[in-house]
Amino acid sequence: MKKRTQFLFQALILVFFASAANAQLKPPAAIDALLSKHTCLVCHKVETRLIGPAYVEVAKKKYTAEKIVELIYKPKPENWAGYPPMAAMPNVPKAEALKIAKWINSLAKK
Ligand code: HEC
Repeated sequence: MKKRTQFLFQALILVFFASAANAQLKPPAAIDALLSKHTCLVCHKVETRLIGPAYVEVAKKKYTAEKIVELIYKPKPENWAGYPPMAAMPNVPKAEALKIAKWINSLAKK
């Protein structure tokens, strides 16, 4: 009985670590809603390359939030060799673009 309990305990720990390693960073719900609404998620994931670069990679560029907003309105494909050009998205309201930009930059600390 004691061995069995120990085995179960070890199995639980394994499952815990395996799922933690697989989990992608999730944006907070409010940001997730903005990213979905503006279709960003069609091309971007948080930690892996999709059509566009992962947001953690964008965070490494250390842009200011204002600069990111500018790049959403007027992308510079030359910043991302090997990627197709992103279409300009001038209809994202500035306040919302800024919230997204600040969240992208918050990824740099992790
Ligand atoms: C149709 C696909 C697509 C959509 C939709 C899209 N992106 Fe992109 N994005 C890309 C690609 C491809 C790149 C890299 C090439 C480039 O910058 O033009 C990129 C680059 C970026 C960059 C980096 C800019 C730079 O110059 O370093 C940011 C920031 C970004 N996207 C944010 C967003 C946000 C926020 C949205 C939603 C409002 C969004 N993207 C929607 C494809 C997309």
